[in-house]
Formats: sequence, structure tokens, C-alpha cells
Amino acid sequence: MTKKQFPQSKVYQLLEPGPVTLVTTFYKKKANVMTMSWHMMIDFEPPIFACVISDQNHTFNILAKTKECVVNIPTVEFAQKVVQVGNISGDTVDKFEKFHLLQEPASIVKAPLLTECYANLECRVIDMKMKAQYNIFILEVLKAWIRPTKKRPRMIHHCGNGVFIVDGNKIKIPSKKK
Ligand SMILES: Cc1cc2nc3c(=O)[nH]c(=O)nc-3n(C[C@H](O)[C@H](O)[C@H](O)COP(=O)(O)O)c2cc1C
Repeated sequence: MTKKQFPQSKVYQLLEPGPVTLVTTFYKKKANVMTMSWHMMIDFEPPIFACVISDQNHTFNILAKTKECVVNIPTVEFAQKVVQVGNISGDTVDKFEKFHLLQEPASIVKAPLLTECYANLECRVIDMKMKAQYNIFILEVLKAWIRPTKKRPRMIHHCGNGVFIVDGNKIKIPSKKK
């Protein structure tokens, strides 16, 4: 046996899902933002994905009420703020003010786009059937934006406990076209 057992509590680190994101919401004239790394694509067009937002988070209640948000995708330059935003709750603090986050209006949803992020996905919640049991929200992307001037966006991936992997080299392996 060449393998060593891996702790159950760390399995999530092996299945890290994709770039760390920042979820913005808007409720009662106030915007909020949280860090979210647990998400999973479900469909291409319209783009649909699932995300896990803990019921301990302020965002959980806002999202359940307003059923809309923006999922913003930052690059490595923003990593420090990503961690700060993910370590404090917006129920008592205005994180936009505290962390000097720049925002601009979205086109469809009320939640703002984070200006400094590479991509911004305006989303609406289309299914909350798994919310109570698993904190899962199913989101449909209504409109997607990217910053065209950013030539080589390097996203960050969360490995747990403050450790991140930064996107590296791209490789291309042609596959069958659909
Ligand atoms: C790198 C990182 C990734 C995180 N990923 C998630 C996640 O996927 N789901 C979640 O519910 N919380 C996640 N969190 C924790 C929330 O961002 C954190 O609880 C935040 O304070 C919630 O803010 P809110 O109460 O204003 O909604 C993450 C935090 C960090 C630092």
C-alpha cells in the first residue's frame, strides 16, 4: 500500500472548486460582500451554477430574500482584500467602506459590480430547494462582464486555512468539438 489515509476534515481541500469569488448583494439600500469559494458549474447556456453560502452568513439571508447577487471574480492582486472580506460579517460592518472597495452599478440586478475584479457575473437565484439542508443556492448568470484590458488574469484558488494556489501556465489540448 503506497497510500496514506487523508483526514475527512480536509477532503474539501482536494476538491477545491475553482476561483475564489466575492459575492455582492443589496438589501434595504445597503450593499454587502462576502468571499465564496465553494461553487460548481451545472450548465453552459444559460450558465447555471451552484454555490454554498452558509446560513451563518449575513449574505445567506439577503440572498434568500432578494434572490439576486453579483459573483465577482478577483485576481491575485486582490487576495489580501478577499481574505479580509471573508473574515468579517456585513451584519454590523460596511465592508465597502472598511476595505475601500470600488463599486459600480450592475445592469440588471441591484447588487453592485466590484470594479477591481476581473469578471462580474450578474446572477439570480433560480432554485433554493437545497438551501435548508445544504446551504446551496442555484444561480443563473443573467449577464457577464470582464475587464478587457487585463491581459493575463491570474485567479486564486482556496486550499483552506489561508493557503491559496495562484493560476499558472495555460496548456491547450484539442478536444472533440460539440
Ligand atoms: C477564502 C475564503 C473562502 C470562503 N468561502 C466561503 C464559501 O464558499 N461559503 C461560505 O458560506 N463562506 C465562505 N467563506 C466565509 C465567508 O466569506 C465569511 O463567513 C464572511 O464573513 C461572510 O460575510 P457576511 O456575513 O457579510 O455574508 C470564505 C472565506 C474565505 C476567507
